[in-house]
Amino acid sequence: MTDIPENPNDEGDLKRSLGPIHLISLGIGCIIGAGIFVLTGQAAATFAGPGVVFSFAIAGLGCLFAGLCYSEFASMIPVAGSAYTYTYATLGKFLGWFIGWNLVLEYLAASSTVAVGWSGYFNDFMLHLGMPIPAMFNGAPIAMQGFNHFVATGSLINLPAVLLVAFITGVLVIGVTTSANFNNAMVAIKLTIVLVVIFACYSYIVPENHVPFVPPNTGEVGHFGWTGVFRATGVLFFSYIGFDAVSVAAQEAKNPQRDIPLGMLGSLAICTALYMVMSYVLTGIANYTTLNVAHPVSQAVEALPATRWLTQYVNIGAVVGLASVVLVLLLAQSRIFYAMGRDGMIPAIFHEVHPKFRTPAKSSIIVGIFSALLAGFLPLDILGQLVSIGTLLAFAIVCVGVMVLRVRAPNAKRPFKTPFVWVTAPLGIIMCLFMISFLPFDTFLRLVAWTVIGVVIYFLYSSKHAKPSPYAVKTETRG
Ligand code: ALA
Repeated sequence: MTDIPENPNDEGDLKRSLGPIHLISLGIGCIIGAGIFVLTGQAAATFAGPGVVFSFAIAGLGCLFAGLCYSEFASMIPVAGSAYTYTYATLGKFLGWFIGWNLVLEYLAASSTVAVGWSGYFNDFMLHLGMPIPAMFNGAPIAMQGFNHFVATGSLINLPAVLLVAFITGVLVIGVTTSANFNNAMVAIKLTIVLVVIFACYSYIVPENHVPFVPPNTGEVGHFGWTGVFRATGVLFFSYIGFDAVSVAAQEAKNPQRDIPLGMLGSLAICTALYMVMSYVLTGIANYTTLNVAHPVSQAVEALPATRWLTQYVNIGAVVGLASVVLVLLLAQSRIFYAMGRDGMIPAIFHEVHPKFRTPAKSSIIVGIFSALLAGFLPLDILGQLVSIGTLLAFAIVCVGVMVLRVRAPNAKRPFKTPFVWVTAPLGIIMCLFMISFLPFDTFLRLVAWTVIGVVIYFLYSSKHAKPSPYAVKTETRG
């Protein structure tokens, strides 16, 4: 007999109130952030030029395959912990830990990355108000130049980023929930800014800025030319992170079988289209070589006299929009740790619920401290690439897991089935590995270091303390 226990313990019965529009809005709320507002400029300036438009299309396709596999798991095991819980339930303890450890890169490191992106726009916003943040406090103390070569920037700490993380951690601890309406308002602001930039700037595109559309390779792999487009794909994959958050809401969807894939794929499709058009417009109004700054969108609109009036609106849209992404990412990370604490993978303190606020307060505070430290001291490009590689690996394992489960438990209840799974899942794996292979070499070294630390913790602590997964899938016996 095959069985997946339904909510065996503490997740409670959530109200099934979310329809497809809510879910698409939730997806867009988590997706649009530092990727389009910051990384696009850097990826265009250093890797692909206007070819970032192709990079967005390829990354979106990779996410589509992974998203279809995610949807199957999400509909089968719709509880806290997302990919970590699915993997522990289906592929066992070590891979469960491994994916949980990589999700720390996805959510914790991503929250720091977006906080750094937020700080870039906040600094520019304050500058336009005539109250610039002193240089000593407005950036990371180090910057990367070339392969593993770091230079001092003269700054001490990225104070706005640290303060943002501290503020949002406080909000999460006292349990101010992001209601559907609050989220919808954030999404409306972000979408409005993106659409206004597209429509207001489209007619000011300078055709010469798009020639050549894919600048010739410099002789080095990943620096312009098609290898540059592919490297930018790995970097810009960051822009799509968050669509998997829709799967977390599977327990609250009215009709998960139809609405979770709709929410995930709908938000992916809308964001892919917006990203492609927005990056086309950005690299059209400003030459890509000028975009390697902390606030490329506001810089590009400010550079044109006709669109200069938009500068502060872009800054406000980015400040509001990016803050909401940090909130969702920190929330997701504390839920992953909550699930890992439940299973004994990490100390039980992460599973404790505050008696008054009814939130995993200690988990949120520990997550907040680490996120603030990363945001305060590391530059955005290092953080963003680390996030991309960790998440791509986690997605590839989810695609493997879906196929393993089809073999081991073919008759398990699957409210949503990945269409053409034997084609979709392998394509998802290939796309993820393809994007990973083009990331800068030093990102691999950092991932190896991260994995070694994870494996040491696993053998010293988790392997000894972990309890069996409460959602473990029993393999079917035939006969
Ligand atoms: N996709 C999110 C962003 O771009 C994480 O900020």
